[in-house]
Amino acid sequence: MKFFVDTAEIDAIAELNDLGMVDGVTTNPSLILKSGRDILEVTKEICDLVDGPVSAEVVALKAEDMIAEGRKLAAIADNIAVKVPLTWDGLKTCRVLTDEGHMVNVTLCFSANQALLAAKAGATFISPFIGRLDDINLDGMELIADIRTIYDNYGYETQILAASIRTVNHVTESARIGADVITAPPAVIKALASHPLTDKGLDAFMADWAKTGQKIL
Ligand code: E4P
Repeated sequence: MKFFVDTAEIDAIAELNDLGMVDGVTTNPSLILKSGRDILEVTKEICDLVDGPVSAEVVALKAEDMIAEGRKLAAIADNIAVKVPLTWDGLKTCRVLTDEGHMVNVTLCFSANQALLAAKAGATFISPFIGRLDDINLDGMELIADIRTIYDNYGYETQILAASIRTVNHVTESARIGADVITAPPAVIKALASHPLTDKGLDAFMADWAKTGQKIL
């Protein structure tokens, strides 16, 4: 499974990238706001740092304007995936940009039918938002499973990019179901390494080691 990191913070991306944990990056207008950076500048820096797809989101609402924005974002680097919302205009934009050879990530997906449309529009990635469904008491993981089944039934090549991941369990479940990619904030990716029994075991080993009076270095 591929790991994308969901942030526009260069330092956080670089730290995970150095470990080989970053297969791509996703950003959105809220993450650009949080970074305090200019979208074109920070996106270029991310593209230079990371080999895999870097999603940069359009902010227009009409297809004609979205297409123009998408082309400008795609010109930043070869590894840009233009992110478009799952609206009818977003789907039109997806078809045009895909036909031009650009990667497209269709975002803000909350239903299996929306995911079906994105696949038919040629999307490279579909981003179902797990956490935001859980927030309103629906089952985000069930949506990932439904999309997996539908895409496999018909052999769609659109990659399922499980998004709005808030917990380590979202990562486990996405992997179990067979999502192609997860995108998660750096803190969630780092939390995957944590286990209370690891901490407890390490404490015990350190205590016993101190009693030996030995040193390795
Ligand atoms: C995905 O591409 C989005 O940027 C992101 O996963 C949204 O997550 P949130 O619902 O935690 O804001």
